[in-house]
Amino acid sequence: MHKLPKFSDPNLLVSGEKLDDAGVYKINEQTALVQTLDFFTPMVDDPYIFGQIAAVNALNDIYAMGSVPLTVMNIVCFPSCLDVQILVEILNGGALKIKEAGAVLVGGHSVEDNEPKYGLAVTGLIDPNKIITNAGAKPGDSLILTKPIGTGIISTAIKGKIAGEGSMNNGIQVMTTLNNIAAMAMIDACASACTDVTGFGLLGHALEMAEASGVTLEIFMPLVPLIEGVYDLASMGIIPGGAKRNLKYAEPKVNWYGRVSDIYKDILADPQTAGGLLIAIDNKKGEQLVKDLTGKGVEARIIGQVNKYMGKPLIVEGL
Ligand code: CO
Ligand code: CO
Ligand code: CO
Repeated sequence: MHKLPKFSDPNLLVSGEKLDDAGVYKINEQTALVQTLDFFTPMVDDPYIFGQIAAVNALNDIYAMGSVPLTVMNIVCFPSCLDVQILVEILNGGALKIKEAGAVLVGGHSVEDNEPKYGLAVTGLIDPNKIITNAGAKPGDSLILTKPIGTGIISTAIKGKIAGEGSMNNGIQVMTTLNNIAAMAMIDACASACTDVTGFGLLGHALEMAEASGVTLEIFMPLVPLIEGVYDLASMGIIPGGAKRNLKYAEPKVNWYGRVSDIYKDILADPQTAGGLLIAIDNKKGEQLVKDLTGKGVEARIIGQVNKYMGKPLIVEGL
């Protein structure tokens, strides 16, 4: 990314360089565009579920900025040798989630390719003064995570046909859940910072927030919620390659306190698909937000706190 030509424009409020979830471009003092694009290859066999997961993953980047998806475009790669009915199912799955998000599909584009790929380009609108980036976390804030982690481990187990039914269902339920409810509550509660937990894992996205905010995030491992069966699968060595890469990248920037086993380190670094929001919010409002979210069926937990910078951007405490 750093080798690409840079664009500077006074109206470009948030760009890809800052590793945020979506770009933001100011149109006037009241309105800015929030834009993102995400697509990937299937992680589950069922095309209807794959379509839902890919759409949720893309839509969630808009919620992570404190915005709401408005318009959406499909991006599709599909092999000519496969039954076109599979593509119809993928697009139907996506449409289900686009409707649930209250957004409108305005078009899209498809190309022939060896492997199916699907995702969305999404646009939202936001008041430029109300953007919630990953750079606003303040010492004293509580850290809230709105979904359990482990979707990379579950997807790896599903591909290897060794995921138990409970794990598989819990993983799919997590990956097909929009962050809309969590985002609305966080916007109402005036959160200081937010990002969604995706490819870099909880560890990597927490690190991004810490570095962008110039603070140290402290995560209490025993408070981090896990998808059913994730610990057992990870202890059997079912760890996606991405988790190892994420861990290797993050590890020099983490202070481990107490006992954090290698299994837990891998789980913290597990790349997430359509993961939850990681929210920093004034500690006086944190518990109320978790209570509100729990009441609305969101599996939100306080998992740590924000400290002033303490030599490394991340502290993880074990037992
Ligand atoms: Co994101
Ligand atoms: Co993204
Ligand atoms: Co076209």
